[in-house]
Amino acid sequence: MKTIFITGANKGIGLETARQLGVLGHRVVIGGRSKERLETARKHLLQENINVDYIEIDVNDHRSIMEASEVFLSIFGELDVLINNAAVLLDKDKKISTDPFEVIDQTFRTNVHGPLLVARAFIPILNRPGRIINISSQGGSMTDAVGGWSPAYCASKTALNGITRQLAHELSSKEISVNAVHPGWVRTDMGGPSAARNVEKGAETPVWLAVVADEAKTGCFFMDKKEIPW
Ligand SMILES: NC(=O)c1ccc[n+]([C@@H]2O[C@H](COP(=O)([O-])OP(=O)(O)OC[C@H]3O[C@@H](n4cnc5c(N)ncnc54)[C@H](OP(=O)(O)O)[C@@H]3O)[C@@H](O)[C@H]2O)c1
Repeated sequence: MKTIFITGANKGIGLETARQLGVLGHRVVIGGRSKERLETARKHLLQENINVDYIEIDVNDHRSIMEASEVFLSIFGELDVLINNAAVLLDKDKKISTDPFEVIDQTFRTNVHGPLLVARAFIPILNRPGRIINISSQGGSMTDAVGGWSPAYCASKTALNGITRQLAHELSSKEISVNAVHPGWVRTDMGGPSAARNVEKGAETPVWLAVVADEAKTGCFFMDKKEIPW
């Protein structure tokens, strides 16, 4: 049984990842910025006899992240897998050349600084071997053509991919793997109702990376349990 912490897991792919890992018998802790929404999510999973814990964490707020890592250590004592899932895609994210800078700033604070600060805060309590999984997006690809949608979001995922590679390199001697995942286009509040995939499919590769994939594999980008180009 592994102890797994998932940020931004009160809904969407994060919540479904928690559900699937709970079904497999792992100890899952969901993180989010609203106690009320976390409690609702916990009760939702309890209806299926899946018992998860939660802690409050706002990945935009360094103090909240540091407090969450302290609370996590005091309550759970250890961590095997960190899943950096929380992210935003803002409606106003249309043109990186002209949008109010606040759009780019908020996107990067949540999607780039957030996962890096969470990783830095939780690495000291990660067991060896340990795993960090960054939920990224193919929108951040450096090999695909630019899609022309949500440019700040896409650039934030490019930056997250870069951070994934750098962390993987730095932590390889410490038996901590760091990988990124593209979950596909998934029907969530972020992905919208037209998306091709359900959340079950979206959570499949994060779950596989958390508890099944080769622990030695690090610094890679995955989709559908297969490595994809950056
Ligand atoms: N859906 C897709 O098609 C798709 C495609 C590629 C990649 N992804 C990635 O998959 C991950 C999950 O996306 P999703 O589709 O499940 O999105 P979602 O349904 O919008 O859920 C996002 C989650 O992140 C949380 N969050 C946002 N800002 C936060 C903050 N400052 N602190 C803590 N939690 C915060 C949200 O909490 P609140 O309820 O408090 O807002 C929510 O729980 C994201 O990293 C996303 O970029 C999604």
